[in-house]
Amino acid sequence: MIKIEKVRNSQGALISVAPIASEQNVVIDDANLTLLPALIDPHVHFRTPGHEYKEDWRTAAQAAVRGGYTTVFDMPNTLPPTITRAYLHEKKALIDSQLQEIGIPLRYRLFFGADKNHLDEIVKVKDEIIGIKVFMGCSTGNLVIDDDESLEKVFRIAAENNLIVAVHAEDEHLMRERKVEFKDKVGYAIHSEIRNVEVASRAVKKAIALTERYKTRLYILHVSSAAEIQLIDRAKQAGLPVYAETTPHHLFLDTTVYPVLKGKAVVNPPLRLASDRAALFSAIHAGTIDTIGSDHAPHTVAEKEKKYGECPSGMPGIETTLPLLLNAYHENLLSLDEIISLTSKRAKEIFNLENNDDVVLVDLQKKREVSESELKTKCGWSPYAGKVLYGCPVYTILWGRCFFV
Ligand code: DOR
Ligand code: ZN
Repeated sequence: MIKIEKVRNSQGALISVAPIASEQNVVIDDANLTLLPALIDPHVHFRTPGHEYKEDWRTAAQAAVRGGYTTVFDMPNTLPPTITRAYLHEKKALIDSQLQEIGIPLRYRLFFGADKNHLDEIVKVKDEIIGIKVFMGCSTGNLVIDDDESLEKVFRIAAENNLIVAVHAEDEHLMRERKVEFKDKVGYAIHSEIRNVEVASRAVKKAIALTERYKTRLYILHVSSAAEIQLIDRAKQAGLPVYAETTPHHLFLDTTVYPVLKGKAVVNPPLRLASDRAALFSAIHAGTIDTIGSDHAPHTVAEKEKKYGECPSGMPGIETTLPLLLNAYHENLLSLDEIISLTSKRAKEIFNLENNDDVVLVDLQKKREVSESELKTKCGWSPYAGKVLYGCPVYTILWGRCFFV
């Protein structure tokens, strides 16, 4: 039995919760701890199968639990990509065996990749997946839907089967044009110019137009700019089933970090201006942004040290998201209830998840430095290394098992 007594809720009131069935006997009785629902990460790249040298579910599950997460949705840009029923089943079997090996029964769901040559696979897996992932522009891997006809098909199939479409909204054609335009420029910072705000907002506009046409439920991944927010806000006002996610790196980093982080700052969609970060915080307060996904996308240090053009996009995030959010709470940028809404409440509602007893207990007064040697992610680095964050998880309770993190 796990007994949690006299801890605090998000309002600061002392509470006790009903005992959680468990093989362990644990009593947590500490008024310095605050109880939050365990976090749900709707957006991770845990790299199995095919890229296990970057990450696998043994290391990623430890990183997740250390970060206060007990549920993750994994993306399909693996090798092979998750675009057929057979690949989906193979991936599940590998994940299950890795999780069993490490003894962490992490809750997970899988996104299915839209691929124009395999769209007929979608109906076969519709009851097994959390949604369909569409890369409107190329990112890590080769998955992309860059023609309007296939894109329309995906939205139609999704609507017919009551599936949500999660879009990586960057316009492939505009991006290609801009790559040519910037081909003589060097340095990592041009990444934010090639994949500029117009690249993202053009794709967001197109996705929203398709939702309007087919009434498909649309989840816009990693919203990064004020321009996208405006479009999403308008769509929501019009009553369309459109939901928006942002990421920790778009909230807490901007283009000023390129000189320091170099290749480690390269991510798709790219880092934006400080004014975009401010717009994201306002959009959270307004309810235009629904969720935060860590977009945990690990690559090795050696890969990230390659020159621009060869350095892959993406950064790890699942272990640092909650400490960053709690730190933002201390800076009066977010309330605890907004953090709960972003990290679990809205994801449960949007993706119709079943309730569970998972919780995380955080110490709001504990300051902890982001130390790369303590990270569980296999890639072993963080863009926040050396930062002292105010507030961190202490216990994560998953399926009646208590992890001291
Ligand atoms: O920066 C990114 N990295 N963006 C993506 O869309 C994919 C991800 C990855 O898988 O590395
Ligand atoms: Zn991603």
